[in-house]
Amino acid sequence: MDVQINGQRAYLTNGRDAKTVQWIRPGVLRIYREKNPDELVRLNLEQQPVSLETEQGSQSIMIRWDNYLLQADENLNLSVYQAGRPCFAEYPGDATVYTEKQEFSLAELEGHKRNESPADFKTQISVTLFDDTDKLYGLGDKAAALNRREYEYISWNTDDPTAHNESYQSLYKSINYLLVNHHRKYYYGLFYPSSYRCVFNLGKYSRDFFYIGSQQGEYDYFLILGDTPMEITRRYCALVGMPLFVPRKMLGYHQSRWSYSREGLHQVADRFRELGLPLDYIHLDIDYMERYKVYTVNREEFPDMKETARQLEEQGISLISILDPGVKVEEGYSVHDQLEEMGGFATLDGESYVNQVWPGDSKFPNYFRESTAEYITRITGDFMRETGVSGIWCDMNEPASFRGPLPDQVEFPSETAMHHHDEVHNLYGEYMCRAVSRAFTRENRRPVVITRAAFATTSPFTTTWNGDNQSLWHHLEASLPQVMTMNLCGFAVNGVDIGGFGGEPTKELLVRWIQANLFSPFLRNHTTLHTRPQEPYAFDRETAAIYKKMLQIRYAFLPYLYDLLEKAHRTGEPVQRPLFLEFPEDEQVKERNDQVMLGSSVMLCPILHQGQRSRVVYFPQGQWVDYFTGTVYEGGREYLIPMPLDAVGLFLKAGAILPMYRDLTHIDDEQLDTLYLYLAGGGDGEYLHYEDDGRTLDYRQGIFNRYRITRTGGQLRFETLVSNFPTRYRKIVVVHRGQERLIPFAPQFVCRLEG
Ligand code: GLC
Repeated sequence: MDVQINGQRAYLTNGRDAKTVQWIRPGVLRIYREKNPDELVRLNLEQQPVSLETEQGSQSIMIRWDNYLLQADENLNLSVYQAGRPCFAEYPGDATVYTEKQEFSLAELEGHKRNESPADFKTQISVTLFDDTDKLYGLGDKAAALNRREYEYISWNTDDPTAHNESYQSLYKSINYLLVNHHRKYYYGLFYPSSYRCVFNLGKYSRDFFYIGSQQGEYDYFLILGDTPMEITRRYCALVGMPLFVPRKMLGYHQSRWSYSREGLHQVADRFRELGLPLDYIHLDIDYMERYKVYTVNREEFPDMKETARQLEEQGISLISILDPGVKVEEGYSVHDQLEEMGGFATLDGESYVNQVWPGDSKFPNYFRESTAEYITRITGDFMRETGVSGIWCDMNEPASFRGPLPDQVEFPSETAMHHHDEVHNLYGEYMCRAVSRAFTRENRRPVVITRAAFATTSPFTTTWNGDNQSLWHHLEASLPQVMTMNLCGFAVNGVDIGGFGGEPTKELLVRWIQANLFSPFLRNHTTLHTRPQEPYAFDRETAAIYKKMLQIRYAFLPYLYDLLEKAHRTGEPVQRPLFLEFPEDEQVKERNDQVMLGSSVMLCPILHQGQRSRVVYFPQGQWVDYFTGTVYEGGREYLIPMPLDAVGLFLKAGAILPMYRDLTHIDDEQLDTLYLYLAGGGDGEYLHYEDDGRTLDYRQGIFNRYRITRTGGQLRFETLVSNFPTRYRKIVVVHRGQERLIPFAPQFVCRLEG
């Protein structure tokens, strides 16, 4: 055995095999035989100093740094120990996968589908499962519970509109990141940086190991270490890119359907206004276009889109329009002709490749070529200026194709290298969003971009929604682990279609859905073609009233949500968190799929099943205050709590300080002059509040304010720590035990709390 250290790399050999370990940062290691190409998968690999100490024996090699030890055995199986206890281990045993499948054609006659279980890999990274309590989280948008152990997934962005469930191996996103909980208390992260198709078999065939297998990806992975799952999450996000900071308005409520007519848009705006329902965006689905030609407007329906947009803007409502990659093959259609002329489409054997999407025969822009991406940025900016729409919803970018999948050999050359579909497929959505979001950042605007397809590195460019769910109770149930997992993977602004996209919800389902997703950073009600109207007022008065109450709560919590988003953008800390992120040692929370934390102070516990009017809530350690009734619950146990149709479980940590707004029907950054400070229960606490213009990138130049609010011994102290933005606040209202105290805004003040 031999080890050579070169800077922060260790080359390990045993005469038969060789592996390299690279210390990128103290908690981030890259382990590889051969690296995956990194031209398209862009990571933050900036190295930080780590000092390594090596010890070489005849049977093993040991390398120490900080309080960690990496050990390579004679077969070059690597293990990591933290403070002397096992933390991670490549599986040293035989991890060959045998899958003998029976003849299936008879079942296929009846329409059954065979589950794919690929077993023939060029590369297999096998990892030890230490014991039966180990749990595997991550992998993005899968329609399953938080713990993915024993399932098998395939990273291959897939548009499948049938009803997703836990047996679906691929959905719209490929996020090759696992957060592993082992030995009950401890955690590590594992990231596979290949964009090629790969398999995550999470212990389906063995209780001793799980593996990542790939035909084209290399033996190359990142191990992310840290003292807590939160620290690991922050380190992972620093590697793949921090979540996008969206305009504050984007955290408001979005209403959508496939598709609103011009009259439909105005009706929505009018009805929301009449009923006092908050609303910030309406979405324009594909029918706003002329025969589904991207960057066009159907002039018969929308003779003057800019005027329509202006009229809505006057009421505080902005438009977001859908954009698909597929460009209709039609001579004389400028987008088609210009892209064709500049060699901007993907090709097969040198000719622009054609498949079918909404417009019929369509070609696929090659966003991997900078000149094409630049063209897309430019025409996206022009389109927004000409139509007055404020945001772009990127869809069908897996890429979806109706005449079978794109062949692996379809060519997507960049300026410097040739790439093929099998390499770029999982990145196609990201590169579309990179080009689109640049149309905003060039104008010093924060992007208002939503995407369906994504890879692990996509979150700095766009927000995400989880595609075509259906109006089914089990899709409501899956929405919480989906959004929590997306958050764990660095996708802070994520959500599902409220009410379900396919099918039609009952009013009970719709009500429970808005309750359960009340704090989804991206909050949109959307439905498909020809379904019954799904707006909150389309059912009955009770439904509209409950929905309104929920949206009012959402808007009340917006400053808190915005503070969390700013922190997510700065540090990677999720906005909507699984409970184990806050309470990593509490076995009771490891599989709580139906409770979610918003930051560290707020816990949401919705009803997810038809007919239920009460549910069991688990309170982690500490005291918790019911937001509606003020009832205090002692942590460390479960309670059965009544939740009639108009109620959702909303609990605040005692001592929490929550910034809030009141009575908003949309977000107008200029009008946010009163900040409420809501103090939950008794106890001490501290909170940092952030203020900026809510829409530009000026914050990058330090143009923001940061305030510290401390509650100690019956006293509240308000201090300004950073003050580079002209504050909009005129009044601060302290809300405590049902009493309100109005204080004219001052950069520092102290106030006594009664009772
Ligand atoms: C896809 C999208 C859906 C959209 C539809 C029409 O199915 O996922 O949200 O409404 O296309 O554009």
